[in-house]
Amino acid sequence: MCSQFQSETDTEIFAHLIQNALDKATVNSECDFIAVVQEALLPIEGNYALGILNVQYPDQLLFIRQGSPLIIGLGDDACFAASDIPAILSYTRRMLVLEDGDIAQLTRKGVLVYNSNGDEVQRPISTISWDPIRAEKGGYPHFMLKEIHEQPRAISDTLAGRLSSEQGRVYFETAFVPDDIILNIDRVLIIACGTSFHAGLTSCYDYERILGIPTSAEFASEFRYRNPILNDKTLVIAISQSGETADTLAAVDLAKQKGATVLSVCNMIESTIVRASDYVIYTHAGPEISVASTKAFVTQLVSLQLILLYIGKNRGILRKKELQTLTQDLLHLPTVASNLLSSEQQIQHIARRYAYAQNMLYLGRDIHYPLAMEGALKLKEISYIHAEAYPAGEMKHGPIALIDKDVPVFFIIHASSVREKVIANMEEIKARDGKIIALTLPQDEEVKRVADHVIEVPSISPHVDSILLSIPLQLFAYYVAVHRGTDVDQPRNLAKSVTVE
Ligand code: AGP
Repeated sequence: MCSQFQSETDTEIFAHLIQNALDKATVNSECDFIAVVQEALLPIEGNYALGILNVQYPDQLLFIRQGSPLIIGLGDDACFAASDIPAILSYTRRMLVLEDGDIAQLTRKGVLVYNSNGDEVQRPISTISWDPIRAEKGGYPHFMLKEIHEQPRAISDTLAGRLSSEQGRVYFETAFVPDDIILNIDRVLIIACGTSFHAGLTSCYDYERILGIPTSAEFASEFRYRNPILNDKTLVIAISQSGETADTLAAVDLAKQKGATVLSVCNMIESTIVRASDYVIYTHAGPEISVASTKAFVTQLVSLQLILLYIGKNRGILRKKELQTLTQDLLHLPTVASNLLSSEQQIQHIARRYAYAQNMLYLGRDIHYPLAMEGALKLKEISYIHAEAYPAGEMKHGPIALIDKDVPVFFIIHASSVREKVIANMEEIKARDGKIIALTLPQDEEVKRVADHVIEVPSISPHVDSILLSIPLQLFAYYVAVHRGTDVDQPRNLAKSVTVE
């Protein structure tokens, strides 16, 4: 007999299904209870992660996952369950990641894990090296500001032990894509969402320019809904801070079905995307709590540079001298990034001036265009100001109609072969009374003449400058949001991990 129930909440369906199954079954033991729960959930399609407590068995908690993340923390005298590591990092660093279909039984005695067949299984226990203090605010008013300031260290951690500047070599602690695949690939396809997509798009310019391999970046949320053409000569790089983004995960699965090799760039150890990929490079950003991604973004850019160097060396594209120079450039980053953070007050001042704008444009050309996209995303997600990014050369094809004295325009005009053309674009804005903030090289008198405000960012080399340029964009968005009084770390309508489509 099939019972009927009414509910306006989808999660209540689980409780009803389990109760129905319990009513019909003979449950004599805890094991029977686990089997009934597994059986009851069989008809469910889609992703879920559940915690189940039954009044008849008050001494145990069951946790079961399908598609959605669920980790179990193992403390000295307690166990924990959460959807991500930072949530329980202050209690324990020993974590166990459940596989799809696993059910974990937490009791006073500890944790037992059963697979979808009901067999008891051992899942590997990882010890997370992150310091729990790093998941707290540490005196900063917001996690976002703390995480912006942590970037020099996050970059150092991502480079640590991976570079030899004398040899011009890159080493990874995890198994990397083998040479026969690296030599065989004829295309790199980067898939990701949001900020991670912007990191991918930024890197495309260097992959094509330095490696000469056709490279493109695609929103994972679009990629999965068309019929992409890829094969065993395609290297797919999936980028995700959380490792749990549903669209990126689905895109990884699709790429693998089509025969591509999938390398993930991820911040979360043993996350679902990592486990679905063939290979992984971890970004060592540490826990990123603020919804707005900052240090994860820069460590993604650093990791993509490391992959570039590795491929360049192993395909024989980059010679030792070039590798040494590129390696040295990366190693300079933490110090220059630290110095850059000292321009914070000036950025705060400019941000206050434009905090009540209703619309903003972010413009750049070449590799600075994806950075403009990232700057606009940061601003809109935490300040709720409508911000659009455009390639500066596209202005005259429509968006220039928006310009007047009330629309501030943020230009990224740095070391690039198109600098002159961007100055011409700035003049076009100026002629229409637009206000200009320019992120530019120190002592660029021509830019200073046209712009209303200038934020100076030194250049190490064009292939790593994007990492430096990100920092003022983040600070600007942060201080605008603070002036507007929004909830910076937890902006409305957003979640840190987007585990649904
Ligand atoms: C950016 O600030 C956002 N938090 C968001 O765009 C994020 O980058 C996106 O949801 C992808 O997340 P992931 O890197 O964890 O896959």
